[in-house]
Order: sequence, then structure tokens, then C-alpha cells
Amino acid sequence: MPGAAATGTRHFLIGTELSREELDALLARALELKAAPLCSDALAGASVALIFEKPSTRTRLSFEAGIHELGGHPIVLRAGELQLARGESLRDTALVLSRQVAAVGVRTGPDEMLAELAAHSSIPVFNMLTALHHPCQALADLLTVREALGRLDGVRLAYVGDGTNVARSLALLGVLAGMEIAIASPPGYALAEDLEPSGEGSLTLHTDPREAVRGADVLYTDVWVSMGDEHAARERRAALAPYRIDEPLLDAAAPGAFALHCLPAHPGEEISEEVLYGARQRIWDQAENRRHAQKALLELLLPPRE
Ligand code: CP
Ligand code: NVA
Repeated sequence: MPGAAATGTRHFLIGTELSREELDALLARALELKAAPLCSDALAGASVALIFEKPSTRTRLSFEAGIHELGGHPIVLRAGELQLARGESLRDTALVLSRQVAAVGVRTGPDEMLAELAAHSSIPVFNMLTALHHPCQALADLLTVREALGRLDGVRLAYVGDGTNVARSLALLGVLAGMEIAIASPPGYALAEDLEPSGEGSLTLHTDPREAVRGADVLYTDVWVSMGDEHAARERRAALAPYRIDEPLLDAAAPGAFALHCLPAHPGEEISEEVLYGARQRIWDQAENRRHAQKALLELLLPPRE
């Protein structure tokens, strides 16, 4: 039947499609790819479509460069360039994509859009950011922590700020990897209380940032105004003002703690300029690690063809 997705096709929509063993292996492979970026031609002869319905700097750069390094050809499609924008169905779009490219990444708003595309695709579909999830970001986040500390199991990470897509993916994949995740947000901006990540780690929700960062090895934040939240920017900045990562907050964490941020940053809002460009962060390594982690993901989603 032309609409049926092939059984066995692997998608990466929320991140927890991976087992813990696969996640560990993916991160180990990412470190190998980082050490030797041209060692793999896993995508030789293959094209990968990258559909962006929202702006991007890091995700687009890291996927485009990473696919090229793997010997593949990235095809970037912006909102408005597809017949989807004129009403063609997701089903028909999925059927056509499945006959032209080896995989497709999507950055969009509704998670349902991604799920529907995946339901009709016989090629892997991966999430490049939706309203609720940003699992490719979480892969780079975990890779950066593992690279810095040599392990993830038992590492304490405190996320301070809005309960965004980035926070949700970090919680889901961090707990899967055995991390202890504490998230501090103001009332009304917390992650859904019914989020129940599975894995050997833990998730606790807080309102007091100092309570969340006590004993933390890593501090993390995201923007106060995510894409699509611009209409409420003023209220968000007011509510989130006490949730900034700065030197005093780092001092309240474990000795040697460092800061992460998915970027783009707004120095003076969710993170101080001192921390963003100082010695107590690994944010720029984290941005680079997007490419290494995603290359390992593509290898996993696209095993060698017969
Ligand atoms: N962190 C992240 O996804 O950045 P971009 O929005 O620039 O892709
Ligand atoms: N939460 C942010 C992440 C940007 C990478 C957003 O969705 O805009």
C-alpha cells in the first residue's frame, strides 16, 4: 500500500526511541567522530532533506556540515518552498520524500505535524526542534557533559529557567542516561508535572533556583522567550528575571560546576555575559558538539545498505 510506512524504520521524534545502551553507544561514537571527522562515509550517495519552518543557526549548520562530512548531500528546504505551504498533505509529502531521500529532519511548531509525517514515511524522520521537544540538542548536551566529566551516571544537572522544549528533552534523555536532573522555574513556567521520564536517573521540579543548583555539577539555561512566545515577551522577562545563570549562582553549585546553554543567548537576561564568555562554561564546545552527536545519530538511523 503506498501510504504504509516500512516496518523497522527508525524515527527520532522525542529521543526516547533510543535505549540506554544505544544512547551510550551513540555518545561514544560521537566522540570518535569528533576525533576524526572524516572517518565515516556512512551517507555516501545518500541525500537527506532538512525542512525548516522556523529560523536556525546551529541546527542547520551542524546538520548541513555533518551530512557533508559523512559523504551525503543535504537538501535544505525552508517554509514556503514546499507545496505543503499550498495545502499538499503531510501524507503525500512523506510518500514523495521517502522515494527521493534517505532521511528527513524537520523543525516546526506542532509535534503532531512531525508525528504525522513519520507515520507516512518509510525513511527515518528526526526532530530538529518542535514546540515540546529538541532531542538533537539533548544529544549534544549529554555529549558535552560526558566529554567534560567522563560519565553521565549520577551527574547532577540543574536547569534554571523556562520549562521549554530544551528542558523537556534534557530531562527525558538525562534521566535515561542516569543523570539527576533538577529544574527550577517560576510558577506558570514549569515543565508539566506529569512528565515521567524513564531511566535510572531522577527528575525533580523546583521553584527556587538556589535549591535546584545545590550540589549541581552542571548548570543549564535556555532563552526566556522561545520561538512562538514573542507575544508574551514582557511578562516572561519579568517572571523569569530571578532565574539567571551568573557567577553567584555558579558559586552556589558544586565546586568546579560549569554552565551550558543551547543558544541563541541573550547576555544579561538568562545568562550573564561574564559566564557566557568566561572560563566557567562549556557552551561553545556544546554548540560544536551538535555536529558530532548528530552524525552519530544519522549513522544509527541509517545503517549500511545491502
Ligand atoms: N540550539 C539551537 O537549536 O540553535 P538554532 O536555533 O540556531 O538551530
Ligand atoms: N526554546 C528555544 C530553543 C531554541 C534553540 C525555542 O524553542 O525557541
